[in-house]
Amino acid sequence: MKITQSDFIISAVRPEQYPIDALPEIALAGRSNVGKSSLINKLILRKNLARTSSQPGKTQQLNYYRVNDMVYFVDFPGYGYAKVSKTKRELFGQMIETYIRDREELKLQLLVIDMRHAPSKDDVLMYHWLKHYNVPTCIVCTKADKIPKSKWDKHIKVIKETLEADPRDSVVMFSSETGLGRDRLWEVITEVIGT
Ligand code: GTP
Ligand code: MG
Repeated sequence: MKITQSDFIISAVRPEQYPIDALPEIALAGRSNVGKSSLINKLILRKNLARTSSQPGKTQQLNYYRVNDMVYFVDFPGYGYAKVSKTKRELFGQMIETYIRDREELKLQLLVIDMRHAPSKDDVLMYHWLKHYNVPTCIVCTKADKIPKSKWDKHIKVIKETLEADPRDSVVMFSSETGLGRDRLWEVITEVIGT
Protein backbone atom coordinates (compact mmCIF):
# COMPACT_ATOMS: atom_id res chain seq x y z
CA MET A 1 0.00 0.00 0.00
CA LYS A 2 1.45 3.32 -1.05
CA ILE A 3 0.38 6.00 1.38
CA THR A 4 -0.18 9.29 -0.42
CA GLN A 5 -2.24 11.06 2.19
CA SER A 6 -3.16 10.62 5.83
CA ASP A 7 -5.03 13.05 8.03
CA PHE A 8 -6.53 13.26 11.46
CA ILE A 9 -10.24 13.94 10.95
CA ILE A 10 -12.12 14.09 14.24
CA SER A 11 -12.29 12.96 17.84
CA ALA A 12 -15.88 11.85 17.96
CA VAL A 13 -17.78 11.50 21.20
CA ARG A 14 -21.21 11.00 19.61
CA PRO A 15 -22.34 8.98 16.59
CA GLU A 16 -23.63 12.19 14.92
CA GLN A 17 -20.00 13.22 14.65
CA TYR A 18 -18.87 10.14 12.78
CA PRO A 19 -17.93 10.83 9.15
CA ILE A 20 -20.75 10.59 6.64
CA ASP A 21 -18.81 9.80 3.47
CA ALA A 22 -19.33 6.03 3.86
CA LEU A 23 -15.67 5.04 3.45
CA PRO A 24 -14.82 1.67 5.01
CA GLU A 25 -13.59 1.78 8.59
CA ILE A 26 -10.94 -0.31 10.30
CA ALA A 27 -11.23 0.03 14.06
CA LEU A 28 -8.63 -0.73 16.72
CA ALA A 29 -9.48 -1.96 20.19
CA GLY A 30 -7.21 -3.06 22.98
CA ARG A 31 -5.98 -2.35 26.44
CA SER A 32 -4.65 0.99 27.36
CA ASN A 33 -0.99 1.31 26.37
CA VAL A 34 -1.00 -1.84 24.22
CA GLY A 35 0.18 0.09 21.17
CA LYS A 36 -2.93 0.91 19.10
CA SER A 37 -1.89 4.43 18.13
CA SER A 38 1.69 3.31 17.43
CA LEU A 39 0.31 0.63 15.15
CA ILE A 40 -1.66 3.20 13.14
CA ASN A 41 1.42 5.39 12.84
CA LYS A 42 3.48 2.45 11.65
CA LEU A 43 0.88 1.42 9.09
CA ILE A 44 0.72 4.88 7.57
CA LEU A 45 4.40 5.66 8.13
CA ARG A 46 3.77 8.81 10.12
CA LYS A 47 5.75 9.31 13.28
CA ASN A 48 3.08 10.89 15.39
CA LEU A 49 -0.19 11.41 13.54
CA ALA A 50 -2.06 9.12 15.89
CA ARG A 51 -1.36 10.47 19.33
CA THR A 52 0.57 8.06 21.46
CA SER A 53 0.03 8.86 25.07
CA SER A 54 1.95 8.65 28.24
CA GLN A 55 -1.34 9.22 30.06
CA PRO A 56 -3.28 5.99 29.81
CA GLY A 57 -7.02 6.06 30.08
CA LYS A 58 -7.21 9.68 29.06
CA THR A 59 -8.85 9.53 25.66
CA GLN A 60 -12.53 8.65 25.71
CA GLN A 61 -13.39 9.39 22.09
CA LEU A 62 -13.11 7.62 18.79
CA ASN A 63 -10.25 9.17 16.86
CA TYR A 64 -10.71 9.04 13.10
CA TYR A 65 -7.78 9.03 10.67
CA ARG A 66 -8.33 9.00 6.92
CA VAL A 67 -5.83 7.38 4.58
CA ASN A 68 -5.65 7.98 0.80
CA ASP A 69 -9.33 9.00 0.71
CA MET A 70 -9.93 5.29 0.83
CA VAL A 71 -10.22 4.08 4.41
CA TYR A 72 -10.58 5.35 7.96
CA PHE A 73 -8.69 4.01 10.92
CA VAL A 74 -10.73 4.42 14.08
CA ASP A 75 -8.63 4.46 17.23
CA PHE A 76 -10.69 3.42 20.27
CA PRO A 77 -9.88 4.54 23.78
CA GLY A 78 -7.87 1.89 25.58
CA TYR A 79 -9.69 -0.18 28.17
CA GLY A 80 -8.60 -1.82 31.38
CA TYR A 81 -6.96 1.16 32.99
CA ALA A 82 -7.56 0.83 36.72
CA LYS A 83 -7.87 4.52 37.54
CA VAL A 84 -10.82 5.12 35.24
CA SER A 85 -14.08 5.65 37.16
CA LYS A 86 -16.94 3.19 36.95
CA THR A 87 -19.14 5.77 35.22
CA LYS A 88 -16.52 6.37 32.54
CA ARG A 89 -16.08 2.64 32.07
CA GLU A 90 -19.80 2.20 31.52
CA LEU A 91 -19.90 5.06 29.04
CA PHE A 92 -16.98 3.52 27.23
CA GLY A 93 -18.74 0.16 27.08
CA GLN A 94 -21.90 1.73 25.66
CA MET A 95 -20.06 3.78 23.06
CA ILE A 96 -18.05 0.82 21.81
CA GLU A 97 -20.92 -1.62 21.83
CA THR A 98 -23.13 0.79 19.89
CA TYR A 99 -20.36 1.38 17.38
CA ILE A 100 -19.60 -2.28 16.71
CA ARG A 101 -23.29 -3.20 16.62
CA ASP A 102 -24.58 -0.41 14.38
CA ARG A 103 -21.75 1.02 12.34
CA GLU A 104 -22.19 -0.32 8.84
CA GLU A 105 -18.91 1.19 7.68
CA LEU A 106 -16.99 -1.03 10.11
CA LYS A 107 -15.35 -3.60 7.86
CA LEU A 108 -12.70 -4.99 10.16
CA GLN A 109 -11.89 -4.81 13.83
CA LEU A 110 -8.29 -5.12 14.88
CA LEU A 111 -8.09 -6.54 18.39
CA VAL A 112 -4.66 -5.47 19.57
CA ILE A 113 -3.04 -7.66 22.21
CA ASP A 114 0.33 -7.28 23.91
CA MET A 115 2.13 -10.36 22.76
CA ARG A 116 4.03 -10.71 26.02
CA HIS A 117 0.93 -11.44 28.08
CA ALA A 118 -2.13 -13.63 27.95
CA PRO A 119 -5.25 -11.66 26.98
CA SER A 120 -7.03 -9.96 29.89
CA LYS A 121 -10.67 -10.47 30.87
CA ASP A 122 -11.51 -7.28 29.01
CA ASP A 123 -9.81 -8.63 25.86
CA VAL A 124 -11.86 -11.81 26.09
CA LEU A 125 -15.04 -9.80 26.63
CA MET A 126 -14.28 -7.56 23.67
CA TYR A 127 -13.56 -10.54 21.46
CA HIS A 128 -16.83 -12.18 22.44
CA TRP A 129 -18.75 -8.99 21.65
CA LEU A 130 -17.14 -8.93 18.24
CA LYS A 131 -18.12 -12.53 17.61
CA HIS A 132 -21.62 -11.89 18.92
CA TYR A 133 -22.13 -9.03 16.49
CA ASN A 134 -20.40 -10.87 13.64
CA VAL A 135 -17.71 -8.27 13.13
CA PRO A 136 -14.83 -9.51 10.98
CA THR A 137 -11.86 -9.54 13.32
CA CYS A 138 -8.10 -9.70 13.03
CA ILE A 139 -6.11 -10.45 16.18
CA VAL A 140 -2.95 -8.36 16.16
CA CYS A 141 -0.26 -9.47 18.60
CA THR A 142 1.99 -6.47 19.01
CA LYS A 143 5.27 -5.64 20.77
CA ALA A 144 6.70 -8.81 19.22
CA ASP A 145 10.13 -7.19 19.41
CA LYS A 146 9.93 -7.50 23.18
CA ILE A 147 10.11 -11.28 23.26
CA PRO A 148 12.63 -13.64 21.70
CA LYS A 149 11.68 -15.27 18.42
CA SER A 150 12.01 -18.71 19.96
CA LYS A 151 9.02 -17.93 22.19
CA TRP A 152 6.70 -16.45 19.56
CA ASP A 153 4.79 -19.66 18.79
CA LYS A 154 4.17 -20.39 22.44
CA HIS A 155 2.82 -16.89 23.11
CA ILE A 156 0.56 -16.98 20.05
CA LYS A 157 -0.83 -20.30 21.23
CA VAL A 158 -1.69 -18.89 24.67
CA ILE A 159 -3.39 -15.88 23.08
CA LYS A 160 -5.49 -18.03 20.74
CA GLU A 161 -6.45 -20.41 23.53
CA THR A 162 -7.37 -17.70 26.02
CA LEU A 163 -9.58 -15.93 23.48
CA GLU A 164 -10.96 -19.22 22.18
CA ALA A 165 -10.15 -17.69 18.83
CA ASP A 166 -12.19 -18.57 15.80
CA PRO A 167 -9.73 -20.37 13.48
CA ARG A 168 -11.07 -18.28 10.59
CA ASP A 169 -9.84 -15.04 12.16
CA SER A 170 -6.40 -14.01 11.04
CA VAL A 171 -3.71 -13.56 13.63
CA VAL A 172 -0.89 -11.15 12.78
CA MET A 173 2.29 -10.66 14.75
CA PHE A 174 3.31 -7.02 14.78
CA SER A 175 5.94 -4.63 15.99
CA SER A 176 5.68 -0.89 15.74
CA GLU A 177 9.39 -0.76 16.50
CA THR A 178 10.67 -3.02 13.73
CA GLY A 179 7.76 -2.97 11.27
CA LEU A 180 7.26 -6.71 11.58
CA GLY A 181 3.81 -7.66 10.29
CA ARG A 182 3.14 -4.35 8.55
CA ASP A 183 2.89 -5.80 5.06
CA ARG A 184 0.77 -8.72 6.21
CA LEU A 185 -1.63 -6.44 8.04
CA TRP A 186 -2.05 -4.24 4.96
CA GLU A 187 -2.86 -7.41 3.00
CA VAL A 188 -5.58 -8.32 5.49
CA ILE A 189 -6.94 -4.76 5.37
CA THR A 190 -6.95 -4.41 1.59
CA GLU A 191 -8.69 -7.75 1.31
CA VAL A 192 -11.66 -6.55 3.37
CA ILE A 193 -11.89 -3.08 1.84
CA GLY A 194 -11.54 -4.50 -1.64
CA THR A 195 -8.74 -2.52 -3.26
P1 GTP B 1 -3.92 4.32 24.75
O1 GTP B 1 -4.21 5.33 23.69
O2 GTP B 1 -3.61 4.90 26.10
O3 GTP B 1 -4.99 3.27 24.84
O4 GTP B 1 -2.55 3.53 24.34
P2 GTP B 1 -2.20 2.86 22.92
O5 GTP B 1 -2.76 1.50 22.85
O6 GTP B 1 -2.56 3.78 21.80
O7 GTP B 1 -0.61 2.72 23.03
P3 GTP B 1 0.51 3.65 22.37
O8 GTP B 1 0.54 3.45 20.89
O9 GTP B 1 0.36 5.02 22.89
O10 GTP B 1 1.84 2.94 22.95
C1 GTP B 1 2.09 2.84 24.32
C2 GTP B 1 3.58 2.65 24.56
O11 GTP B 1 4.03 1.41 24.03
C3 GTP B 1 4.44 3.73 23.89
O12 GTP B 1 5.49 4.05 24.76
C4 GTP B 1 4.97 3.05 22.64
O13 GTP B 1 6.20 3.54 22.21
C5 GTP B 1 5.10 1.60 23.10
N1 GTP B 1 4.92 0.63 21.98
C6 GTP B 1 3.85 0.55 21.17
N2 GTP B 1 4.00 -0.45 20.26
C7 GTP B 1 5.20 -1.01 20.50
C8 GTP B 1 5.94 -2.10 19.90
O14 GTP B 1 5.51 -2.76 18.93
N3 GTP B 1 7.16 -2.39 20.44
C9 GTP B 1 7.66 -1.70 21.50
N4 GTP B 1 8.86 -2.08 21.97
N5 GTP B 1 7.01 -0.67 22.09
C10 GTP B 1 5.80 -0.32 21.61
MG1 MG C 1 -3.68 5.55 21.80
